[in-house]
Amino acid sequence: MDKADAARFAGRRRAERAERGEADSFSAIVRSTHLPMIVTDPRRHDNPIVFANPAFLRMTGYERYEVTGRNCRFLQGPGTCPDAVARVREAIRAEQAIAIDLLNYRKDGSTFHNALHLNPVHAETGELQFFFAAQLDVTERYRLVREREAANTALHDALAVQTTLVHEIDHRVKNNLQMIAAMIVLQSQRIDDPATRASMMETLQRVEALSTVHRRLHQSESASRVDVAGLVRDLVADMIGASGRSDIRVALDLAPVLVHAEKSVALALLFNEIVTNILKHAFPAGRPGTIAIRVGLAEDLRIVVEDDGVGMPPADEPKGSFGQALMRTLARQLGARLAVESGPRSGTRVVVAMPASVGLPAPVDAPAG
Ligand SMILES: Nc1ncnc2c1ncn2[C@@H]1O[C@H](COP(=O)(O)OP(=O)(O)OP(=O)(O)O)[C@@H](O)[C@H]1O
Ligand SMILES: [Mg+2]
Repeated sequence: MDKADAARFAGRRRAERAERGEADSFSAIVRSTHLPMIVTDPRRHDNPIVFANPAFLRMTGYERYEVTGRNCRFLQGPGTCPDAVARVREAIRAEQAIAIDLLNYRKDGSTFHNALHLNPVHAETGELQFFFAAQLDVTERYRLVREREAANTALHDALAVQTTLVHEIDHRVKNNLQMIAAMIVLQSQRIDDPATRASMMETLQRVEALSTVHRRLHQSESASRVDVAGLVRDLVADMIGASGRSDIRVALDLAPVLVHAEKSVALALLFNEIVTNILKHAFPAGRPGTIAIRVGLAEDLRIVVEDDGVGMPPADEPKGSFGQALMRTLARQLGARLAVESGPRSGTRVVVAMPASVGLPAPVDAPAG
């Protein structure tokens, strides 16, 4: 052997030793890993297990001699999904990899959810040599999913009960308000002083506006949100109806906006004051006209109420009316800016601009008001 041959021989021995070393460490890893693994031999009859690592034996409860030489189907049982088994069989037939969860049975008959990753191993020639299957007991994951689903169902049921209760409360509040309204009507019939009577009628109108809010809340799907368009439409129809004015037209341009229930009462009362003012002051007897109402949600939640009536008289000195005080309080509750634009004979325009967070866009498929 010359020097070059000796070097080549030494090199080959080193490569063999390295290969053997690699195989040894691979085998040590497979034996010590917590990941259950098996190898099956599709070239032998019925594709039997030819190697199972200790993690696989721990997971299934079998001894090595009980699994070696058998097809994996002994892990299946009555609860195993036939479709999943068919998919595994098809992957084996097509020599393709598959990742699938199967319900498997241990030796003691108990079940576990097995996340199976099956891979064909081909020789360099392309010939199928083995199937390598890594598996993982994912029973805990299934249990957590089931628990979460049960918790969701329980939460959903509790919410439905709560919604029903709140709806019931709104229904009762609405009935009580209607009773108060009826009492105001009866009481006002015994009052002769026209000013006191008119004042009681305004109180009646406010109580009815509250009643409308609670009817809307009772009808609303969520019990915690009110559709502003529906509320505005109901309020204005009630008020025009009660005024007996058939010569006042209403033009509505209402975007689908929801508001939280706790804001809806203040909003309805504020709207009631604005429209009451129009019906009281803008169209003196015989003067027909139009009330245009716009609701929109953009950088703010905005309600614009415009009339083409007589316009506000020049403000010589602040009157300090109850209506004004009420509107200021309601605007504060809503975090709203109130702006009134008017001049004699030019109609009046009232803008209520609330923070956008007061409203939220109604779902597109929500039934319009
Ligand atoms: N849309 C309107 N068109 C014409 N004038 C209006 C309009 N709204 C308000 N005004 C005028 O502004 C005044 C102040 O209105 P405000 O609501 O503060 O008081 P009020 O309606 O007279 O009394 P209250 O609301 O306490 O019953 C009214 O008296 C009226 O002259
Ligand atoms: Mg007023």
